[in-house]
Amino acid sequence: MILVPMIRNNICMNAHPLGCAREANLQAARAEAFALKLGKSDKGPKAVLVIGCSTGYGLASRLTAAFAYRAATVGISLERTPRGTKTGSPGWYANRAFDTAAAEKGIFARTFDLDAFSHAAKDRAVEAAREGGFSYDLIIYSLASPVRVDPDTGYLYRSVIKPIGSGFSGKTVDVFTGRLNEAHAEPAEPSEIEETVKVMGGEDWELWMTKLALSGVLAPGALSVAYSYVGPALSWPIYRYGTIGKAKEDLERAARVISAGLGTSGLQACISVNKAVVTRASSVIPVIPLYVSTLFKVMKERCLHEDCMDQMLRLFSERLYRPGSGPLPLDDGGRIRLDDLEMEAAVQNEVASRLSRLDESNLRELADIDGFRQDFLRAHGFEVPGVDYSVEVDLLT
Ligand SMILES: NC(=O)c1ccc[n+]([C@@H]2O[C@H](COP(=O)([O-])OP(=O)(O)OC[C@H]3O[C@@H](n4cnc5c(N)ncnc54)[C@H](O)[C@@H]3O)[C@@H](O)[C@H]2O)c1
Repeated sequence: MILVPMIRNNICMNAHPLGCAREANLQAARAEAFALKLGKSDKGPKAVLVIGCSTGYGLASRLTAAFAYRAATVGISLERTPRGTKTGSPGWYANRAFDTAAAEKGIFARTFDLDAFSHAAKDRAVEAAREGGFSYDLIIYSLASPVRVDPDTGYLYRSVIKPIGSGFSGKTVDVFTGRLNEAHAEPAEPSEIEETVKVMGGEDWELWMTKLALSGVLAPGALSVAYSYVGPALSWPIYRYGTIGKAKEDLERAARVISAGLGTSGLQACISVNKAVVTRASSVIPVIPLYVSTLFKVMKERCLHEDCMDQMLRLFSERLYRPGSGPLPLDDGGRIRLDDLEMEAAVQNEVASRLSRLDESNLRELADIDGFRQDFLRAHGFEVPGVDYSVEVDLLT
C-alpha cells in the first residue's frame, strides 16, 4: 500500500509505518550523540517508567533515558493497532521501533499497550520492574488523553478544552490551507470542568505512585515528573484559566500530595512546565497552532528554537541530573521551568506584535506555518528525511 497523509481539521487520520520508525530512530541517534557530549557521569536515571511513552514529550523522555543515559525503561501507552487497510496510530509504530533499537543496543525495554488508568497497566509496570530486578528511580507522567474510564465503576469521564465563565473567541489557522478562521468555544459546564480534572488532573498520577510505593518498586530518592504548560496570556482564557488549566492546577496539587504522603523514601514529585511544541495533542487546541507557528518563526530567527528532544535532553542534563549537588532548580510555585526561552519577554513581545498584525497575506512572512505543518506530518511519519514514500508498505511492518 502507498500511503499519503489523510488530514481532516488539523487531525491526521493515518500514519506511515516506515516514517514513524525512522523518526524514532533519528531521535534515538540524537540522544546517543548527546550522550557523547555529556561524557562519563554517575548522574542519571537507571530505571525509568514512562506513562504516555509513545509520542510527543513521553517518547522524547523515554528516548533520552534509554539512549542518552542507557537506562532500563518501561513504557505504557494506548495506541491503535493496524487493522485491515487502516494504519496503526503513530505511537504504535514508534513503540515497535523503540523496542527494536533498545534490543539492538542491549538496553532493557518493556512496552505495554494498555490503558494507563486501568489496574492492569499499573500491575504490569510493577511486574516489569520485578522481572528486570530494578526499582524505578524516575517516573514520567506524560498522558494527553481525551477520556478516562474509572476501572472500579466503569464510568467514562471526558476531557474538554473550554473556557470557564464566559465564551472565548480567537484567531486560529488551518496549517494545511493557510486560511485564518475565528474559533469560538462556549464556556464549560461545571460537570465538564470536573470531568476534565478527572482525566487530565493528578488523581491517576497519585494512584500510580501509591501503587508503585506500596509494591516496593520505587528506588530511594526516586523522582516523578508530570508535564504542564503555561503559555502566553492570549491563550489563558482557553488554556490556563480554562478546563485544562484547572486540570493542570490539580496536577500541581497531586505533586505536593505525592511528595508529602509517600515521601518517606525521599520520593520527590514535581511538575515540569515545558515549551509549546507540535504534537498530536497540541494541534487540536484552538489558537495554539497560530501562536506556535509564530513562536517558531521568532525562536528560529533568534536561534532559540527547541523541539521535544531538545527539551527533554535539557530537562535531564540541566535540571534532573545536572552536574554538582543541591536541590532541583524550581520556580516560586515549585515547578521546573523548561519554557524559559519561550517566555523570555523579548520573544513574547515580538510574538504578540506579529499576532496583532497577522492576516492571510503576511502569514508566511510572520509565522512559520510550514515548520508547524512539517513537524505535524513528521509526528505521523510523513515527510521524514530518508524515507522513500513511493514504496509500497506493509501496515504491520
Ligand atoms: N504539546 C505541547 O506543546 C505541550 C507543552 C507543554 C506540556 N505538554 C504536556 O505534555 C504531556 C504530553 O503531551 P504531548 O503533547 O506529548 O501529547 P501526545 O499526544 O504526543 O502524547 C500523549 C501520550 O499519552 C498516551 N495516552 C493517551 N491516553 C492514554 C491512556 N488512556 N492510556 C495510556 N496512554 C495514553 C498516548 O499513547 C501518548 O503516548 C501533556 O500533559 C501535555 O499537557 C505538552
